[in-house]
Amino acid sequence: MTGPTDHPGAGVERGATCTMKTEFEFVADTEAATDLLGQRLAAALPPAAVVALSGTLGAGKTRLVQAVATALGVAADVVTSPTFVLCQQYDGTRRIYHLDTYRLKDADEFLELGVEEYFDADALTFIEWAERVEDCLPAERLSITIHIEDDDRRRFVVQSHGSQYHSTIARLAAAE
Ligand SMILES: Nc1ncnc2c1ncn2[C@@H]1O[C@H](COP(=O)(O)OP(=O)(O)OP(=O)(O)O)[C@@H](O)[C@H]1O
Ligand SMILES: [Mg+2]
Repeated sequence: MTGPTDHPGAGVERGATCTMKTEFEFVADTEAATDLLGQRLAAALPPAAVVALSGTLGAGKTRLVQAVATALGVAADVVTSPTFVLCQQYDGTRRIYHLDTYRLKDADEFLELGVEEYFDADALTFIEWAERVEDCLPAERLSITIHIEDDDRRRFVVQSHGSQYHSTIARLAAAE
């Protein structure tokens, strides 16, 4: 299969004066490696960040939020799937909002949760099943698509949407 980064120029935005990478791939062979990505994201995300998570059931969306949260000092067992409560808040060294759209009827129900307030907050906001509410998401966001490669092996495709997140991609790449 041909991946998006196999094409010359893929993941690259061309401007008049600079060339900026907009995509970063991370392969985790173990959950410990996913924890490492979580640490790097915790360090690389801007103070107010929106992260759209996609990937099938059991891909590791909740597990990645747990990895970021523990990197920020939140106890791992506090981070659970917000499938039923729809939104959870964790307060570590940074505030995290954790949303899950899986059980929502439609995008209107998502907006009724008051999500715009979360997007504007000085916090990291993670949205599981983000593709279901894509039209309601801010244009400026980071998206992470998780592919299951094997039992414990996951491939994370991280993409910046909007200039605010280009530096996040650069920081993730520099941490490699
Ligand atoms: N490298 C890895 N990274 C993340 N999770 C992994 C990894 N290896 C194995 N796993 C397992 O994969 C599962 C991921 O479950 P998780 O609840 O995070 O998925 P999800 O994408 O949130 O699914 P759902 O759509 O049901 O909410 C967990 O059981 C976790 O232990
Ligand atoms: Mg989940």
